Amino acid sequence: MSDRVIIFDTTLRDGEQSPGASMNAAEKMRLATQLEKLGVDVLEAGFPASSEGDLNAVSLIAGKLQKTEVAALARTSKNDIDRAWQAISHAVKPRIHTFIATSDLHLEYKLKMTREQVVEAAVEAVKYAKSFTDNVEFSAEDGSRSDRDFLCRVFEAAIAAGATTVNLPDTVGYAVPEEFADFVRYVIDHTPNIQKAVLSVHCHNDLGLATANTIAAIKAGARQAEVTINGIGERAGNTSLEEVVMALRTRSNFLAAGTGIQTEYIHPTSRLVSMITGIMVQPNKAIVGANAFAHEAGIHQDGVLKNPMTYEIMKPETIGLSANKLVLGKHSGRHALRSHLKDIGYDLSNEELDLVFGKFKELADKKKQIVDEDLEVIVTEGILRTTDIFKLEYLHVTAGTTVLPMASVKLTINGRSVQSADYGNGPIDAVYNTIAKLTGTDSELLRFSISALTGGTDAQGEVTVRLRENGLIALGKGADPDIITAGALAYINGLNRLEYLKANPIKEAADL
Ligand code: KIV
Ligand code: ZN
Repeated sequence: MSDRVIIFDTTLRDGEQSPGASMNAAEKMRLATQLEKLGVDVLEAGFPASSEGDLNAVSLIAGKLQKTEVAALARTSKNDIDRAWQAISHAVKPRIHTFIATSDLHLEYKLKMTREQVVEAAVEAVKYAKSFTDNVEFSAEDGSRSDRDFLCRVFEAAIAAGATTVNLPDTVGYAVPEEFADFVRYVIDHTPNIQKAVLSVHCHNDLGLATANTIAAIKAGARQAEVTINGIGERAGNTSLEEVVMALRTRSNFLAAGTGIQTEYIHPTSRLVSMITGIMVQPNKAIVGANAFAHEAGIHQDGVLKNPMTYEIMKPETIGLSANKLVLGKHSGRHALRSHLKDIGYDLSNEELDLVFGKFKELADKKKQIVDEDLEVIVTEGILRTTDIFKLEYLHVTAGTTVLPMASVKLTINGRSVQSADYGNGPIDAVYNTIAKLTGTDSELLRFSISALTGGTDAQGEVTVRLRENGLIALGKGADPDIITAGALAYINGLNRLEYLKANPIKEAADL
């Protein structure tokens, strides 16, 4: 058996199903490019039948990636498979990923189908997908709660119909490692043609066991892991890419399997996902949390200084965290900026660099030292938000102990300038009232949080908001040395995401 584990990244599909984590097409493209650089083998770009916007984004990604396989998700219906193929037919390496549930629970209550009908649907779907491409993956949704013999029967039939990968998902995060490893061994032993396909696993993290289950499955013989950056995904999320990759690398003595991931891009990719989705990584998150390599206790610090191996099982540089952060300032030139951006994972075109350099100079006039976190904000705000409907042009706020807070705001809406002023309970309330009036939106602010990007009183304030309008939820993010401006940018970013969701409604299952 090969010791190479295929990394199948589904940040753009299952990851995007995290509440509020919608991404627009430009953001998806940027992330896809970064994931290719990271070295993922397969990138699941989306679920084309779910919306026009998703189909277009998948199609753009399929046209861009050269080395990475681009997968599109489809249920077993011909329409879903047609939409998936429409989106990826021009990819250098396309893959159709079709799925149907196999647990009795799903069969009885969701699908209202018999086991025979499910086998037939799986076979028909794989054969139909196979008429477009040789590269077809079949997933048995809720596989971990399915009858083992039935699951093996479905896999056998799917492989006989042409599936080149069969995937065993723990859809609801119910499995525990020993049991899941045993399931994988059972599948290998009881699916007669299993050697003709790659066996994959796809775990959710409802019990906090997604990585443990994935590693146990790999140890038992699975050779594809479906993962997301930072573990984002439906409910408690999916298995996190960085945890699986670094566990395989750090414990290669025990696990005897590896990946093709360029680990030095793990940290920049994790930051990019946080910046784009607005979902921050918890500080104590393994591998990519802010505290993952921070030693607080004196006894640990002493040990690490004497020999890092005493308390560090991985070197921070391995995941792209450099100990000596290069600090840039107002006299730094284009060349230094370009080369530093490249080091932290952003390989920009000349036009993109022009834009970022201008913003960098603006910020350097306000803030003495520009560090990586500042650059990440400039890149994501400067490049990824160029297609936004609403843009902030101007903001003036009066607030204090003796005045009624008032904001005067100028925006462009689809390139047209509008301005207005309004009052509020505090400066943020005044700004948000004015912006809501100008944009004609009526969203509810569910969450507002503010933090400093770095230490120091000149640090940029980073605001994250969560907005709800007509049942749609979006996160928004903004950063600026002025926290009121950061709040306005976050709100506008959230409104732009809501507009994107309104324009790209996800179709209900019944519509498809
Ligand atoms: O969790 C799941 O079962 C899925 C399938 C579509 C693979 O995401
Ligand atoms: Zn899933």
